[in-house]
Amino acid sequence: MRKNIVAGNWKMNKTHAEATALANDVVGSNYAHEVQLIMFPPAVYVSEISKIAASSNVAVGIQNSSQHESGAYTGELSTSMIKSVGANYVLVGHSERREYFNEQNDVCAAKVDQILKAELTPIYCCGEVLEEREASNHFNLVQSQIEEGVFHLSADDILKCVIAYEPVWAIGTGVTASSDQAQEMHKFIRTLLVDKYGIDVANDISILYGGSCKPSNAKELFANADVDGGLIGGASLNASDFIAIANSF
Ligand code: 13P
Repeated sequence: MRKNIVAGNWKMNKTHAEATALANDVVGSNYAHEVQLIMFPPAVYVSEISKIAASSNVAVGIQNSSQHESGAYTGELSTSMIKSVGANYVLVGHSERREYFNEQNDVCAAKVDQILKAELTPIYCCGEVLEEREASNHFNLVQSQIEEGVFHLSADDILKCVIAYEPVWAIGTGVTASSDQAQEMHKFIRTLLVDKYGIDVANDISILYGGSCKPSNAKELFANADVDGGLIGGASLNASDFIAIANSF
């Protein structure tokens, strides 16, 4: 059965002192342990924060990884390095990576392969910008992101992945997708998975919602049949908000 997951993407925020304090607060919090919590700090803190989280049920991930195995790629981090410092999850294809770093579906697919090769869990992000939704192209767009990013995987490998739907117009804007809009797209993604891999596989894959998710709207979003948790930006920068979201199932 698929897991409920609440993941905090801290993006490019927090000094070292602030980041370690936040990690300690999250790890020391009370939350329902059937929810998998994951912290995604900036890469430079991942090693230390993995140690902070080591004796807890909270997992740690990294916001980006290289599609290459090793070598002359200045500034990049390989999945084997990431694994060796204790991270277990990697974000792939976040809309900010797609927009500002020109990451296309083929690069995301290569990243997914490296992540799985290192026995880490990719959280593969998809989602449309506002113009695409207004042009009613959002289903097509998300379909191509999913097909080109992860549909080369075997059933065994797709089962090791998590998918996150993050409508770009809802990220950091305060505008959340309505509960119905979220469920509609999550159901669409689940149906793509059913058509490609069958119902049993599709039902075992967690699909997270991201985009202005906060304590006040998490319960309604998570109540949907195909919404298995959240990928949280702004509200994950505060431990009590993040934990309130985790306790919203
Ligand atoms: P916000 O929760 O700040 O809208 O960010 C969502 C996000 O991009 C998480 O990856």
